[in-house]
Amino acid sequence: EKGGFEHFMLKEIFEQPSVMRDVMRGRVSVEHNALHLGGIQDHLDTLRGAKRMVILACGTSWHAGLIGKYLIEEFARICVEVDYASEFRYRNPIVGPGDVVIVISQSGETADTLAALRIAKERGATVMGICNVVGSTIARETHFGMYTHAGPEIGVASTKAFTAQVVALFMIAVQLRMGNPEMSGVETSVLLQELLAVPDKAEQILRLNDDILSIAESYWDAEHVLYLGRGYNFPVALEGALKLKEISYIHAEGYPAAEMKHGPIALIDEDVPVVFIAIRDHSYRKVLSNIEEVRSRKGRVIAIATEGDREIGRIAEHVIYIPEAAAALMPLLTVIPLQLLAYHIATLRGCNVDRPRNLAKSVTVE
Ligand code: F6R
Repeated sequence: EKGGFEHFMLKEIFEQPSVMRDVMRGRVSVEHNALHLGGIQDHLDTLRGAKRMVILACGTSWHAGLIGKYLIEEFARICVEVDYASEFRYRNPIVGPGDVVIVISQSGETADTLAALRIAKERGATVMGICNVVGSTIARETHFGMYTHAGPEIGVASTKAFTAQVVALFMIAVQLRMGNPEMSGVETSVLLQELLAVPDKAEQILRLNDDILSIAESYWDAEHVLYLGRGYNFPVALEGALKLKEISYIHAEGYPAAEMKHGPIALIDEDVPVVFIAIRDHSYRKVLSNIEEVRSRKGRVIAIATEGDREIGRIAEHVIYIPEAAAALMPLLTVIPLQLLAYHIATLRGCNVDRPRNLAKSVTVE
């Protein structure tokens, strides 16, 4: 059942290239510069006409939601807020007709997300779902939605469901752009092409598994770890930190890299490793100077960098090189080494990665 893998989590990490292909299957046509998103096809006018969107979710699905905000704002130019379902539901939230609420849930059963969706619906918002479990309560109660088709996720720590959610959000964002007469149609075909190239690149990253294990061997006894990234990779930093704390019980925090100097830098010494997502994009130089600041305080740095980057190896202690891709698709790649790093550190510490203490796969109580 684990397909030759030692744990479900590892199996599910390795399934990601094929899961990404499944999410895209039958939905992406580069040739026609078109997307066929069955579940939302009939609601595109509502989505495009939204005053604003509000994404509600918990945990890892909330991280996917943050990436969704960046994607929808960049490609569709619609204002998107992201909130924890548990905060939204108790806040007397401002939401109503004209708003599109997107709830994201792997299980489709998370109590807070379900309650938040009911409030949004009651107040007249259009509610769309992105769920993995077919026929789940959230999937049934939303007005319409999209399934992620990641297959059953057994490991408590979410991995393949997250990447499937991000692929779904990417497709939605591009679909909304396609209908906007003010934006050119040419570029969307490039985006679709780039999307189709991601699964092969993810496979390439999985081949680094042994290298990542050997990096984990130098850090398994850390007590605190910081994760830093910017832009599309800021939510990935949060997700990397969440994976590590869930399964290895090491205290970890994710931050936008630029926030480092506003507080977290005080934590840095030779005992607090810092994981930087430092791919070559428009903020690369700035991240590089953050790395230098950490190094000058004797911090140990693990960097996720772009293949062919010759500079970073001189300042980071360990570098994991990943293939180049459009910035908006990078989270699908940068998250993979972070999942593997958390996995190996946790197994080296003897933790039960598939069933971490105190956690349940589906949080049906608040
Ligand atoms: C993290 C994790 C949790 C879930 C959260 C939401 O690895 O699994 O943080 O992401 O409980 O669950 P769903 O997506 O089922 O609503």
